[in-house]
Amino acid sequence: MKNTFTHQVVIVTGASSGIGAATAQAFAAAGARVVLAARQQERLRTLAATQPDQFLVVPTDVTQDADVTRLVETTLWQWGRVDILVNNAGLGMRAPVEATPLADAQYLMDVNFFGLLRCTQAVLPHFRRQGRGQIVNVGSILSLLATPRNGIYAASKFAVRALSDALRIELHGTGIDVILIMPGYTDTPFFENQFRYGGPARIGPLRGVPPETVARAILRACVRRQREVVLTFPGKCGAWIKRWCPRLLDWVLARQRDRT
Ligand SMILES: NC(=O)c1ccc[n+]([C@@H]2O[C@H](COP(=O)([O-])OP(=O)(O)OC[C@H]3O[C@@H](n4cnc5c(N)ncnc54)[C@H](OP(=O)(O)O)[C@@H]3O)[C@@H](O)[C@H]2O)c1
Repeated sequence: MKNTFTHQVVIVTGASSGIGAATAQAFAAAGARVVLAARQQERLRTLAATQPDQFLVVPTDVTQDADVTRLVETTLWQWGRVDILVNNAGLGMRAPVEATPLADAQYLMDVNFFGLLRCTQAVLPHFRRQGRGQIVNVGSILSLLATPRNGIYAASKFAVRALSDALRIELHGTGIDVILIMPGYTDTPFFENQFRYGGPARIGPLRGVPPETVARAILRACVRRQREVVLTFPGKCGAWIKRWCPRLLDWVLARQRDRT
């Protein structure tokens, strides 16, 4: 991938940790200039210090209109363009639907869905003027199927898939791509950071893939202009069973429910 993205400017939200940090590093290694957006400034600055010429830190909370406007304006002022937006900022939640406080569910949607929409709407006028651009939305395997104690999180990621599908069609013929990446279990601090009401942080004994694997898939999807990508073997199996044997999946997950 070396030099594949030279002269391109990429914004990565949620770049302070996990998949976002790995994706920012991968784009920089492939020659891009990368704008690091998240709330934890110190983490962003530490990452930026590794390649100061290629990284720009713009502290951003994706739930705040003013922050997102500043993110795009600062990028354009500093580097004059944006080629790729990676909508990666996100938060998890492990809780039964019945017991989830509404305010927490709304906050989760505000980060995972409205944050992504806010960033997308902020870059689109610029992409339209340029006649090109790529929006990479980080969904989840839970954009395709919902598991017990993940109802609200899955709803936010189903919403990301719906938005991606509609927007892709709306932008057909404009030169702007919409790419949906659906990672499965990935080893990041996501599980420690999530809202959790009782029960274990993770389902079952599955091990996650490293965030660098997801980052590579994101870069590959941009080069190939892929529509959507499902990651991890268990994720692909789950999506296949959901499509062809949904009752079997319900039965397996209901058995698991009693253990989680
Ligand atoms: N890990 C997995 O197994 C997995 C699987 C499927 C999908 N995903 C998705 O992958 C994405 C990245 O997750 P991860 O695994 O890398 O988790 P992570 O290590 O916890 O990273 C989450 C990132 O989101 C940022 N973030 C959270 N709230 C934000 C806000 N209001 N404004 C701006 N940034 C915010 C955090 O930065 P700050 O705290 O600095 O703001 C952090 O950089 C998420 O969308 C997640 O849903 C993860």
